[in-house]
Amino acid sequence: MSAIAEFMETDFTQRLVDSVESAADANKKAVTNTVLAPRFYTTNFDEMDKINISSVRREWDLMMQEYEGDNNHDHFQRDAAFKDEVHTLMSKLDDGLKQEFYDFLIGSLTSEFSGCILYNEVRKNVANPDIKKLMTFMARDESRHAGFLNQSLKDFNFGIDLGQLKRTKKYTFFQPKFIFYATYLSEKIGYARYITIFRQLEKNPDKRFHPIFRWFERWCNDEFRHGESFALIMRADPRLLKGLNLWWIRFFIIAVYATMYVRDHTRPALHDAMGLNATQYDFEVFRITSEISKQVFPLIVDIDNPKFKIHLERLTALSFAMNAAKERKGVLNILNKGWIAAQALTAFVKLYFLPVIKSELPAQVRLVPTW
Ligand SMILES: [Fe+2]
Ligand SMILES: [Fe+2]
Repeated sequence: MSAIAEFMETDFTQRLVDSVESAADANKKAVTNTVLAPRFYTTNFDEMDKINISSVRREWDLMMQEYEGDNNHDHFQRDAAFKDEVHTLMSKLDDGLKQEFYDFLIGSLTSEFSGCILYNEVRKNVANPDIKKLMTFMARDESRHAGFLNQSLKDFNFGIDLGQLKRTKKYTFFQPKFIFYATYLSEKIGYARYITIFRQLEKNPDKRFHPIFRWFERWCNDEFRHGESFALIMRADPRLLKGLNLWWIRFFIIAVYATMYVRDHTRPALHDAMGLNATQYDFEVFRITSEISKQVFPLIVDIDNPKFKIHLERLTALSFAMNAAKERKGVLNILNKGWIAAQALTAFVKLYFLPVIKSELPAQVRLVPTW
């Protein structure tokens, strides 16, 4: 029920109407929690401490060697052309596109920083040497990613005060297993999103309207590896991947996919500018993520079922209807908002109960990022 209340209270119009004109606006956007915005998480550290990865030790150790090798240690530094490119390219963009791009940067930064905080907190609060080491590496990577995005926001004088954000943004508590499902998906989706954008702009360099996209290829390999880490943690404890937990996995896949779909459809100009269609782009991201997730989840959602797209479109339309309803006042409108929220819940439930496709877990967990 709280999701419905939150949906009704969510200020969807914030992105559509309130533009970012100052650092204060940017910071406000980063700190505000909505159904669609990235969140900060905390978890049960004692439970995290008990993770035992011995059944996947061989693959785990190879992965740790990759983290230690740190092949991206010199990647997140700007080259000489960066700043000039920002000015020449951005000066040609219209305001609508600029606003969507700021929103994209702020959302991405919040999400990178969310990982950074969570991994750091786990690192500080566990004694388990495997988990402590992993979290140290992942926090290192996410802090670079967040810092790099923040540099780009600072170019426009919209820098986010990360210390302040850490202190003031609300934290959502998730049990470790929910952290694994959600974070695994967000890392792999992060990979799929970045690589899809990178490949598109590699083919169409005239559509690369900001230099940051040149960094996405090596960047997304970090995200891919973070996802691999959660895949191994889950494969090390088969209880997480069967029985009732399959319903949770299904829930997280649908929730993460639906959120991304609705959010991306609030940024039409951004996708247009890159020569991408938001719907096609999202389905490409779903396809890549589903393919990858077979390494750990015994089921994938059937994205080719026409009803899958119909329900996503319905959710998107309802989000926009909720936006419009927020503009109006009065008792009738409260009822109207309740009605929209109930319809959104119905659409979500229909998505959730669409038939899924079962898949066999492979003996070898690790994958190579070949997309
Ligand atoms: Fe990241
Ligand atoms: Fe990551």
